Amino acid sequence: MGRHDAALLRAHLERFGEVGEVEVFATIGSTSDAARAALLAGAGHGAAFVADEQTAGRGRGDHRWHSPPAENVYLSVVLLPDTSARAMAALTLALGVAVAAVVDEHLLEPRARIKWPNDVYVDHKKIAGILVEATLQGNRAPTLVAGIGLNVLSERFPPELAERATSLALVGGHHLDRDRIAALLIARVRAASDAFAAQGLAPVLPALRRRDYLAHRRVRVGDVTGVVTGIDEGGRLLVDGQPVHAGEVTILG
Ligand code: BTN
Repeated sequence: MGRHDAALLRAHLERFGEVGEVEVFATIGSTSDAARAALLAGAGHGAAFVADEQTAGRGRGDHRWHSPPAENVYLSVVLLPDTSARAMAALTLALGVAVAAVVDEHLLEPRARIKWPNDVYVDHKKIAGILVEATLQGNRAPTLVAGIGLNVLSERFPPELAERATSLALVGGHHLDRDRIAALLIARVRAASDAFAAQGLAPVLPALRRRDYLAHRRVRVGDVTGVVTGIDEGGRLLVDGQPVHAGEVTILG
């Protein structure tokens, strides 16, 4: 179990046909804050920021993201897509499909599911989370930072997460090289964002629906309660056929 090796990570990226900025930190508050600061200083589309450890890793809402050193992958990518902020939820799902595919490439058979809107699950536990944050400036297209946390080597989680979190190591993952996984995620996130900007969610909808963790479950989202009947072309969750735009999902059965 070692620290990231920036040279090896870059070599993997090159092998995946990628160039572009990558910065690797030993310890940082949040890679998404590093990406946002770099964006304000002029970083371009695809610039990536990786850390061995985050001291203030965050998830959606006011959740923290468990970010111990040298165990998992924590990274953020600057995205300057030509899309509106309204498309962010759908972009999050497109990135989720990309992250789920990376998870599956380390398993013997496809097991990664997507729990709308931003979680990747294996065996009913969360293995990865995606956080897309936007800055809006007047009428200009929003500037985005996509943060990805993927649990790779962690074998223990704090008590409050133990029942809900898992890692590639815990689900029998193979070839768990964090430099390579980080490079693969960066390449796939860039590609998924570009594909989304060009074609929207349509090309990945079949994969998304195949991986839909909530399908047929009874849920509560905000003040809506019902059975999940799917995800529509705009990335909205369908509860008893009614589209839901956003919200924390509670599974009732
Ligand atoms: C969630 O599940 O709510 C999203 C979790 C996103 C975590 C990643 S780790 C890298 C990046 N930096 C952060 O502070 N958060 C994201």
